[in-house]
Amino acid sequence: MSGFDRKLRLAVLISGGGSNLQSMIDRSAAGELAAEVVVVISDRPDAYGLVRAEKALVPHFVVDYGSHGRADQHTVKTEVPGLDLEELDRTQKILREPDREKRLRRLTRLVSAERELISTLDRFQPDFVCLAGYMRLVTPFFIHHYKTDGRWRVLNIHPALLPAFPGMHGYEDTLAYGCRWGGVTVHFVDEGEDSGPIIAQAVYPIWPGDTLDSIRKRGLQLEYAVYAQCINWLAQECVRHDSLQGLTRIATITDPAYPSIVRGWVEMAIAR
Ligand code: GRF
Repeated sequence: MSGFDRKLRLAVLISGGGSNLQSMIDRSAAGELAAEVVVVISDRPDAYGLVRAEKALVPHFVVDYGSHGRADQHTVKTEVPGLDLEELDRTQKILREPDREKRLRRLTRLVSAERELISTLDRFQPDFVCLAGYMRLVTPFFIHHYKTDGRWRVLNIHPALLPAFPGMHGYEDTLAYGCRWGGVTVHFVDEGEDSGPIIAQAVYPIWPGDTLDSIRKRGLQLEYAVYAQCINWLAQECVRHDSLQGLTRIATITDPAYPSIVRGWVEMAIAR
């Protein structure tokens, strides 16, 4: 059953446990998500999220980045047919490797893997690609493939209050810094790492005596709620893309219920 007129088609990219994926699958089945997960891709064959996809009868695939060359492989060509690699290097902000040759080699390998990703994903015609614990950097080649009508279509959930603590260890960094509040962020993915336009954020308290495990548990509950709400806002066309200095940097939520939804998140996080 579904209380929504139109369901978005979501592709979900994972690398691990896939509890965010599970939340999307469950909420979709319960009619609480204006979307359905139509395909799951993992970069790791042992990701438990693949088992979740299998159980939910969602088509799932593995893209083996290793088969697209290795970091130390100097024989990897620094060219991709039909693509201006130099231009891609100019627009990307994910690889900071100062050695140009090494950087181009890495970009080549990433783009080659992304071509495989795209050819699989596009068979399922996703409206949005949701990164959910996907431990790979995606290049502008991938992002721009899905940037149609000037709109970003790749989303990510990050376990910190961006722009604080980007990178792989959001919960660890938040706790180690001694923050009294942690946060989660759902954002569009742009050319940088965890730097795209923010759709929504929510915070949870960090109490004396909290551990990494306890804050992760609290934060994950919030992640599920915020990611689902952002997808619903996208389905309801409640996310406006605003420009700042000519760049589409700001995503504004136009849902009149926005303040009460945010209040609900904070109350939920404090109550846990
Ligand atoms: C989540 O904390 C997410 O924010 C981060 O990776 C973790 C994935 O968890 N990007 P799961 O695989 O969804 O359980």
